[in-house]
Amino acid sequence: MIVEEEAQKRILDSIHLPGHVASLDVDTESSLMWWHKAVLYQVYLRSFADANDDGVGDIAGLISRLPYIKELGVDAVWISPWYESPMLDGGYDVRNYVDTDPLFGSLEDVQNLIDASHQLGLRVVLDFVANHCSSQHPWFQSALTSSEGSRERDWFYFKDGQGESGNEPPNDWKSIFGGPAWTRTQNLDGSPGQWYFHLFDTSQPDLNWKNEEVLIQFDEILRFWFDRGVDGCRLDAVSAIGKDDDYRDMGFAPDDLYRPDIWGPVPFFDAEGVHDVLRRWRRVAREYPTEKFLVGEVVVRDVERLARYLRRDELQSTLSFDLSKIVWSADAFRQMINTLHGACFEHHSWMTWTLSSHDEKRTVSRYSQDGPAEGVLGDVTPTGHGRARAAYLLALALPGSACIYQGEELGLWEVIDIHEDRLQDPIYFRTGKQELGRDGCRVPLPWEKEGPSLGFSARHETWLPQPQSWADVSVATQLNDASSTLHFFRAVLALRATIFNDDEWDITWEPSPTGVLVLRRGPDFRCVVNFSGEPFCISDDEEALASSSPLTDERIIGVNNGAWLRARR
Ligand code: NOJ
Repeated sequence: MIVEEEAQKRILDSIHLPGHVASLDVDTESSLMWWHKAVLYQVYLRSFADANDDGVGDIAGLISRLPYIKELGVDAVWISPWYESPMLDGGYDVRNYVDTDPLFGSLEDVQNLIDASHQLGLRVVLDFVANHCSSQHPWFQSALTSSEGSRERDWFYFKDGQGESGNEPPNDWKSIFGGPAWTRTQNLDGSPGQWYFHLFDTSQPDLNWKNEEVLIQFDEILRFWFDRGVDGCRLDAVSAIGKDDDYRDMGFAPDDLYRPDIWGPVPFFDAEGVHDVLRRWRRVAREYPTEKFLVGEVVVRDVERLARYLRRDELQSTLSFDLSKIVWSADAFRQMINTLHGACFEHHSWMTWTLSSHDEKRTVSRYSQDGPAEGVLGDVTPTGHGRARAAYLLALALPGSACIYQGEELGLWEVIDIHEDRLQDPIYFRTGKQELGRDGCRVPLPWEKEGPSLGFSARHETWLPQPQSWADVSVATQLNDASSTLHFFRAVLALRATIFNDDEWDITWEPSPTGVLVLRRGPDFRCVVNFSGEPFCISDDEEALASSSPLTDERIIGVNNGAWLRARR
């Protein structure tokens, strides 16, 4: 560990930054940590593969499909929560942090998964949910039955209500999922009691990260999984950990249902206390011969706030959440990439570039329209497919690691016509059915051209229904089509693993026609994405290594397309 750490420090110290441009001037080949350029594949367990035929994906199903993930060409799998859970927020409501939900399998299955992944050379990244637990967790249950001001209640945020009988919430704070962030409890004698705080669903009470017992407990939970061979953690909602002791009203209107735009700094989001917790976790990560990887889901108001999470003794990386929010526009992409890349280099850190997740609308659907992808999406178009591939060419060309959400490699689109009786996302219910929520990007994967649930399960009915049209984009269908999105991803990931030198951390935007982005990385490599209305012609001394669709006459990158280019040798 010492050798690796010292080498890493040497590399980091050698980075000099003017703005977003950085360069490494030492031989780094053997000394970079594994995550510095890794590609993660995000598995949403419930929707990946079902081995026990109950219509819900599980760990055995995932193990059976590990070779598929390996052949895709990624380095690691980040797996959505497998903990024991009432599943009121898809497992992000944890009832037991050190066991697996029977829906997904057993602890032994998880161990088999970790071992099988390692045998294939894949690292395993756990989804670490620490901002909140489930209201069914014994910690919360014993807080409910304990008295006001008790040690048990101090693990959470219990407050008296306002008004004469305390029947108004302690303040006006809103839940990110919609509705008030406070729920009233009942005393043991049935009378109304105190209120507790939950940034997400009522079933997800926030933990008090100023409580030393909570801190110690979670150190042990981290070690529990690291000892079993987990290689790192994706830190769920991490910018919400650590609240200020400031319970002032924020000025939210009582009928404000949905305020996902309140990202802090506010007393309950992006508050100062989070950084001490991150330093503590980083120390735990460093207890192991190969340091464990901590990549955060950091949602904050601006890049200055983001950069603070990437300080040397905090997170090694953060997911580029903002990149999956922007519209199809050259300026928006260039600006966002500069901003995020700059935030990283300020602290000699690494971005994990991603365009999608189980919380976002699918890229193909977002890019099928020109405006913002909020609200109900329209039809999926070939333009959307071309743009999505081109955007991935750009994201995968950037220095740092990257993350691909399952199904993106198939070009799956957002399913917007799931019958309301089948919707499950708490956002849908907490916003009075005004927001469709995230079910549309969580539909089970199509593996086969035919058969029950297109090979996801032996059962016809899956926890969310699949569109029959996904038969045409199933894994089996795409494997037989050399021009498919799946083959595109495989080819691009194979190239990515070999063409970039570890010392090529500079990115430069070259002069180009309006609406065309030309990103240079290293002496030979350029990535071009054509957001403009005109075709773009590459120079004679370059050849295309990969492209979102074939170049006309091997030279012309069409509108809404992109390519990786290399100087001819
Ligand atoms: C972020 C996760 O990605 C999301 O799916 C979940 O609902 C919230 N955190 C709450 O844990």
